[in-house]
Amino acid sequence: MKRIKIPDTMTVVVLNSYSGADALSIEQRPVPTLGRNEVLVKVAFAPINPSDLATLTGYYGFKNPTPIVPGGEGSGEVIAAGPGVMASYFLGKRVACTGWGIGGGVWSEYVVKSVKGGVLPLNKSLSLEQGALSIINPLTASAFIDISKKGGHKSILLTAAASSLGKMVNRLGQSEGIQIVNVVRRDAQVDILKAEGASIVLNSNDEGFEQQLNDVCHETNTRLAFDAVAGSLTNQLLKAIPNNSKVIVFSALSREAVKASPKLLIFENKRIDSFWLGPWISKQGILKTMLLWKRAQKLIPSHLKSDIRKIYPIQEVKEAISDYKNKMTGGKILLRMT
Ligand SMILES: NC(=O)c1ccc[n+]([C@@H]2O[C@H](COP(=O)([O-])OP(=O)(O)OC[C@H]3O[C@@H](n4cnc5c(N)ncnc54)[C@H](OP(=O)(O)O)[C@@H]3O)[C@@H](O)[C@H]2O)c1
Repeated sequence: MKRIKIPDTMTVVVLNSYSGADALSIEQRPVPTLGRNEVLVKVAFAPINPSDLATLTGYYGFKNPTPIVPGGEGSGEVIAAGPGVMASYFLGKRVACTGWGIGGGVWSEYVVKSVKGGVLPLNKSLSLEQGALSIINPLTASAFIDISKKGGHKSILLTAAASSLGKMVNRLGQSEGIQIVNVVRRDAQVDILKAEGASIVLNSNDEGFEQQLNDVCHETNTRLAFDAVAGSLTNQLLKAIPNNSKVIVFSALSREAVKASPKLLIFENKRIDSFWLGPWISKQGILKTMLLWKRAQKLIPSHLKSDIRKIYPIQEVKEAISDYKNKMTGGKILLRMT
């Protein structure tokens, strides 16, 4: 391994209060030192995900006191290792890293991560750009298919389905023989998914949407719905699915409270559940997690690929966020850290 000189200071993105992208600044900070079972990652790329937008306004599940460094996932190279056999194993490896746990967010030139879950080795064939997007959506799409197969579901419903995650779920669903009932909010998104081979795509803003959704859910016996939007759409899904079915809320893109008619819960035995990747992974155990990771790595060039629309230097993080928010369906935006 060639020796990489570690500088004394690094560039980081800092969120100074939970009031959105305006509260971000670029700062110089000392490069952190390493403890046992920790590695130093020279970060290459990090995406802007919906969970990062939620973090900026304090809406996400973690809310440490500010200032914090945001960034939920990224890719890079391990350039130094603290004491411990596992840490030495990672030295020189290209990795994907998470933004939770030790070291915090990855919108930073360098980040310290624990080898116990903070870094995952990348396949040699994967680019660092795809590697930066290889944890959150690929593992969530894999989890949705896993949950569906375990429940014996041959058809599932998905909202905000023209998202990067939605495309992954559609491709995995096609290969596993699971029908996806896609719900989007614009005609252009219907076209995008149809071009990808999806057969059922409904626009929630169409007149007659509720009836169409009800008909499709009954024809396809769709008893499991994954909802990224929340608000009144959740109640529309609950209405449409057959009795004794379930909606799993996994995001709140509308930022509205979930609406549910008590009538549907009481007399039709319809249920609302939730999904969050971190706790779901923790429940799977180390062996299954490693299998999921290996499989996801293999499928990233095909089923679990993300479209990358543009790459911005870390210094232009505010422009990058604004660009992403204006065109979320258009593909992912990456931050380049060096
Ligand atoms: N719970 C978990 O563990 C977990 C894990 C992974 C992902 N997720 C969630 O999965 C969703 C998709 O993530 P992604 O990275 O694939 O997103 P993405 O590629 O950035 O796309 C976001 C999509 O959401 C749509 N959207 C935004 N606001 C909406 C609203 N109010 N109503 C309907 N659609 C809306 C956008 O459509 P427009 O272009 O029309 O704005 C776009 O198609 C996100 O909500 C994310 O938080 C959750």
